[in-house]
Amino acid sequence: MKTLFFNIKELIQIRDQSVDKIEGASMKELPCIKNAFLRVDNQKIEDFGAMSDLKDFNADQVIDAKGHNILPTWCDSHTHIVFEGHRETEFVDRINGLSYEEIAARGGGILNSAKKLQNSSEQDLFEQASQRLEEIMKLGTGAVEIKSGYGLTTESEIKMLNVIKTLATSYPITIKSTFLGAHAFPLEFKENQDGYVKLICEQMIPEIAKLQLADFIDVFCETGYFNVQQTEQILKTGKKFGLIPKIHVNQFNSIGGVQIGVASKALSVDHLEIMKQEDIDVLKGTAVMPVALPSCSYFLSIPYTPARKLIDEGLPLAIATDFNPGSTPSGNMNFVVSTACIKMKMTPEEAINAATINGAYAMGISDTHGSITKGKFANLIMTKDIPSYHFIPYAFGSNLIEKVMIKGVFI
Ligand code: NIG
Ligand code: FE
Repeated sequence: MKTLFFNIKELIQIRDQSVDKIEGASMKELPCIKNAFLRVDNQKIEDFGAMSDLKDFNADQVIDAKGHNILPTWCDSHTHIVFEGHRETEFVDRINGLSYEEIAARGGGILNSAKKLQNSSEQDLFEQASQRLEEIMKLGTGAVEIKSGYGLTTESEIKMLNVIKTLATSYPITIKSTFLGAHAFPLEFKENQDGYVKLICEQMIPEIAKLQLADFIDVFCETGYFNVQQTEQILKTGKKFGLIPKIHVNQFNSIGGVQIGVASKALSVDHLEIMKQEDIDVLKGTAVMPVALPSCSYFLSIPYTPARKLIDEGLPLAIATDFNPGSTPSGNMNFVVSTACIKMKMTPEEAINAATINGAYAMGISDTHGSITKGKFANLIMTKDIPSYHFIPYAFGSNLIEKVMIKGVFI
């Protein structure tokens, strides 16, 4: 199946195959072609260029994109889409004055979701997660990372990872899977934290690796959750079993998690709301992608990742949703891009780079996703008739997407 788009108002985020991530001052650049064409052959981008270079209009499907822009689909590198039920009562508790940490200390939070998930069937979890996945695909997401972490027993963690695997084979969207058994300490291990770390390292990781259920390993490294030493031990074991680290750090406190991420050669360090200068410095010159989660900051009313400072000091930055029932019940990457501009003072170019090619890097897939590049997947957002791509963050809350193509097929 061959598709030709012609008269594209602006073709956005065109890159060479050699570009795997964008950092520092370069994030302000977003290469585009005005009045362009784009050819798709089966799943892949075959060719693109200026309309003046288009000679042959032959294709199975020819689309006049006059007035519409085309950009690569969003790459959401951090989500917890598989969960049972919602936590809107905690939302109301927070409005009434309790903090996220206070709610967790009362047995709410992650443990609340774990209790619900342990009692639900794989089929039920799949059906709920499918709805969320279909929603985010319509909102322009073409690749997504999904974590476990609401199971907290070997059986339930494997149940979650099996759901992620079934999602990956049931939908065209690219899915990367992360084992996050170290999301919180289960109640029965409250007084025996090292016992739970042992269970993760000696039972969960070997079993999950044997079943080939995860690409990445994650830990919530935070005061009241996993400390730096426990984090290091879990990541080290994960790596021994072929799982690449991607970790939750510095959401509420700076306790050395970024340093552990760098030392463990993590693919990404995520959250970063609370950053000391030393946390920023240690990331410089490394291959680790910092990931900000602006809608989590928005929803919890906690500080935003200091994106301006990170980028101005030369670092790359990716942005992702963190879609989960507790801290971010939204998987809308368009809102993430808007919030990055409005609250973190990123330019539209920086935010689009952060949500596409840098998000792809944070999932280890920037050779196939995240830009308009010959040979990459034809994962495309066609916008409505809007004045310019600046409108995407500017008109926050409006759906500006006309069509989404994933791997060469309109969804
Ligand atoms: O990334 N911070 C840790 N984990 C999730 C929230 C999990 C939850 O509250 O259910 C996050 O924000
Ligand atoms: Fe998260």
